[in-house]
This record gives sequence, C-alpha cells and structure tokens, in this order.
Amino acid sequence: LGVLHHRNDLSGETVLITAGGTREALDPVRFLGNRSSGKMGYALAEAAERRGARVILVSAPTALRPPANVEIVPVITTEEMRGEVINRVDQASIVIKAAAVADYRPIRQSGQKMKRQGPLTLDLEPTADILSEVVARRHPGQLIVGFAAETENAVAHGRDKLLRKGADAIVLNDVSREGIGFDSDRNAVTFLTAQTSLDLPEMTKRDLADRILEEILGLRRPQHV
Ligand code: CTP
Ligand code: CA
Repeated sequence: LGVLHHRNDLSGETVLITAGGTREALDPVRFLGNRSSGKMGYALAEAAERRGARVILVSAPTALRPPANVEIVPVITTEEMRGEVINRVDQASIVIKAAAVADYRPIRQSGQKMKRQGPLTLDLEPTADILSEVVARRHPGQLIVGFAAETENAVAHGRDKLLRKGADAIVLNDVSREGIGFDSDRNAVTFLTAQTSLDLPEMTKRDLADRILEEILGLRRPQHV
C-alpha cells in the first residue's frame, strides 16, 4: 500500500541528500570523524528515487552499495562535501543533510604516520557549517532539512539547532536509546519544525525514509507556510 500510495509524488523534484561521516585526516592512516553508517541517508536516497525524484547523493565514506539511478558524488572531508554541495544545491528543490559532519579538523596534518609515544595534544579548528551555508543561499520554495543526534534534552537541543541554523525541519535522533540508531537497520526519530514535534516510532530505516519524505512534503501545506 505504501509504495503505491507514494508512487511518483516526488516527480519533478530534485533532492540533494548528504550521507555518511566526513573524515579529517591526522596523518595518512588516522582521522577524526563522527559515527555514521550512512544507512539513513542512503535509505532516503532510495526512497526519493522510487518516488520519482532526481536524486543527488553527496556521500562521505560508508560500507554501503550505492543506490541505483542516483547521482552519487563521493567525498571524504568536510571541505570536499561543502564544495560539492554548494556546486549543486541551487538545482535542488529539497535538501536533506543526513551526513554526520566532522566538527573539527587538525590545524596541521602529518605527511607521515605519527609514532605513538606518550600523551598527545591536538590543535583543532572548527569545520565550516554546511547546513548554515545552504540556508544562507536558499532559493524561494526550497525545503532544507537537517539531522541531529543528541544524547540529552533532545527536543530542546534540536529545536535550538533548528532555529539557529534556519532549517525548515530537523530530524532528531535520541542516541541515548539502546539498540536503534547508529549502525542499526532500524531507528525512531522526532520530526521537529519551529511549531511542531512529531514522534515517528521505531521502524526500519527504509520505512522511516518514506515517513520522513512524507513529512517533508507536508512542509509545503498551508499550515506550515
Ligand atoms: N552540519 C553541517 N556542517 C557542520 C556540522 C553539521 O552541515 N560542520 C549539519 C549536519 O549535516 C546536520 C545538522 O547540521 O544536518 C546538525 O548537525 P549537528 O552535528 O547536530 O550540529 P552541530 O552544529 O555540529 O552541533 P553539535 O555541537 O551538537 O555537534
Ligand atoms: Ca556536530
């Protein structure tokens, strides 16, 4: 029923999705990054494609097979993701930032593998906030949705992030819940807008992708405008 119901409701849309976790190299073998399997972002890409959208998937490293009929743009670092997103984002009617972006990068990188000896202090600088840059250049009618993983006061932190970044919605993961979320094929999230909060109960990431897309399309309905 779900598939029939959704068929082609995204035709004419270009959906730009980011997925995976960006990596900031310390040396040729080590990196800093955030946990992310990429499964939620890839499930969203597959679901949007099934529903008739043109899909651009800007993907940091994952162990997943690239979805069929999706334009996949591989990246590693946050700066690469930022460049590829900014180059393409004006084409997108819907932007979904599911990637776990590395928050800091080493100010210096070692060209050779660093040898382990005693305590180590790293000097880090913050990476660019891609979501905020996308919001700053949004065109009329473009929907922009972020993701957030929180360990405490999830709704309060999520809403704060939504307002600070200016996204239309945030998909909130409460990662303190056991057995779902990271690495799992299942998840439960809260879909947050400035005015609303909707709990989507635990289900497969594939089903969740369809529910999230439904909520994103719902942002165009009058009560949200
Ligand atoms: N994001 C981004 N660029 C960054 C960091 C985050 O585009 N440098 C995006 C993520 O893809 C996500 C949203 O912003 O859609 C929220 O990510 P999150 O890590 O929760 O936000 P941060 O501002 O990094 O806050 P925190 O300090 O809680 O990590
Ligand atoms: Ca972060």
